[in-house]
Amino acid sequence: TAGDLEFAVADLSLAASGRTQLRLAEHEMPGLMALRREFAETKPLRGARIAGSLHMTVQTAVLIETLVTLGAEVRWVSCNIFSTQDEAAAAVVAGPDGTAEHPAGSAVFAWKGETLDEYWWCTEQLFRFPGGALPNMILDDGGDATLLVHKGAEYEAAGTVPQPDENDPEEYRIILRTLAQSLAEDPRRFTRIAEQVLGVTEETTNGVKRLYRLAEQGALRFPAINVNDSVTKSKFDNRYGIRHSMVDGLNRATDVMIGGKLAVVCGYGDVGKGAVAALRGQGARVVITEIDPICALQAAMDGLDVVELDDVVERADIFLTTTGGRDIVSAAQMARMKHNAIVANVGHFDNEIDMAGLAKVPGLRKAEIKPQVHEWVFPDGHAIIVLSEGRLMNLGNATGHPSFVMSASFANQVLAQIELFTRPGHYPVGVHRLPKQLDEQVARLHLDAVGARLTRLSPEQAEYLGVDVDGPYKLDHYRY
Ligand code: NAI
Repeated sequence: TAGDLEFAVADLSLAASGRTQLRLAEHEMPGLMALRREFAETKPLRGARIAGSLHMTVQTAVLIETLVTLGAEVRWVSCNIFSTQDEAAAAVVAGPDGTAEHPAGSAVFAWKGETLDEYWWCTEQLFRFPGGALPNMILDDGGDATLLVHKGAEYEAAGTVPQPDENDPEEYRIILRTLAQSLAEDPRRFTRIAEQVLGVTEETTNGVKRLYRLAEQGALRFPAINVNDSVTKSKFDNRYGIRHSMVDGLNRATDVMIGGKLAVVCGYGDVGKGAVAALRGQGARVVITEIDPICALQAAMDGLDVVELDDVVERADIFLTTTGGRDIVSAAQMARMKHNAIVANVGHFDNEIDMAGLAKVPGLRKAEIKPQVHEWVFPDGHAIIVLSEGRLMNLGNATGHPSFVMSASFANQVLAQIELFTRPGHYPVGVHRLPKQLDEQVARLHLDAVGARLTRLSPEQAEYLGVDVDGPYKLDHYRY
């Protein structure tokens, strides 16, 4: 604690080196910097208390300081135990005008390599603004902060938290324990939070799926904006971001030659398409698996073999899951892989690869090669290499997506926060997307930086096409 400022980071003395990285990132994030210039005076987020759960990287630091420039007060955690960049977390706590000795920034609770207990402790800190204040906005990535509020409020209404049983996953037991402690301390905390929160803006595919499910069940407690499905988010970050950061993770983790290897990518959605492009760019032979006939046909038209995992499990060198689903690679399949095959995941949660099943294989030995790179040696002596314990490897083994693409994603986040905070009532409880004109605006903010010159419609052309000269240029269902 420093004055009113609470935080928990690995090492505050990293703040100065973090600040230099933030400075470089700001130059590569024209969308966020344009929003700072546009709203620095009017401060549309004045009065917003944002509980943010999103990978605490350098790029997120620029997002946080943009929200603060727009008037918000924030508390922040990472949404993954391995994804924090400790120097970025330190820089945000120190703040642009403070130092490691006299921190004057924002409250961050995040460090690289949290245990699950620590992760949920951090997440719970999001809801404890100074002086007993509660958040009135959530910014989420994957939906863990939103989940805690919904489960908390549900159990508060029931007056009790269910007892976990032996077979429940460890993480579920930790969540229940966290909520039981909260209930004992304040039996209405999450109910009040749910009442106060004006809305949540959600970053990723998996979190968005959770929100639609809550809405379908009639259980969603506040409005949500699905940031992921802004075109300038999922068609850029999920795809071009992964194209950059996934190979970065592979290289930093293993430095294995990718060219010539047989790589199998599970899932050919936005993330899968980016991953395939990167692996092919490196000269790998790439095959994919899909459950959706449309994506499978797309892959075939892109010249890829569409296989079942079992067809290639003994031959492939690199296995990458990108599905957002569960049990994509089983422990039995991992046992059949060839020596030193690399197994990694870039889908949001860690259950794409059956790590729990792998840990139970009798006689298996796990050796750390370096942090977030493990060799699992089977009793017959052959091994596989698992990155980031099956969690997001582009963040665990590398530093996530580059600044430029995150500028587009985060510009959507900022606009979505402004929409929900300044226009309560305009968005009823449910899951919404940003208006297309704002999506186009985000793209527009990034064109100069890439030297793009946009052609302007003449009024006659606009009339002929049936659109406005200033957009939106496409119907809502257009797929890009
Ligand atoms: P998407 O829905 O576009 O693609 C996922 C694809 O996987 C779909 O085409 C689906 O049919 C396929 N799939 C589902 N189950 C499968 C199975 N059992 N076998 C083979 N294919 C299967 O979703 P998107 O946007 O590509 O996101 C995928 C995941 O990546 C999500 O969990 C998302 O949250 C996460 N994500 C991770 C990022 C990172 O930085 N690592 C960035 C953006 C998203």
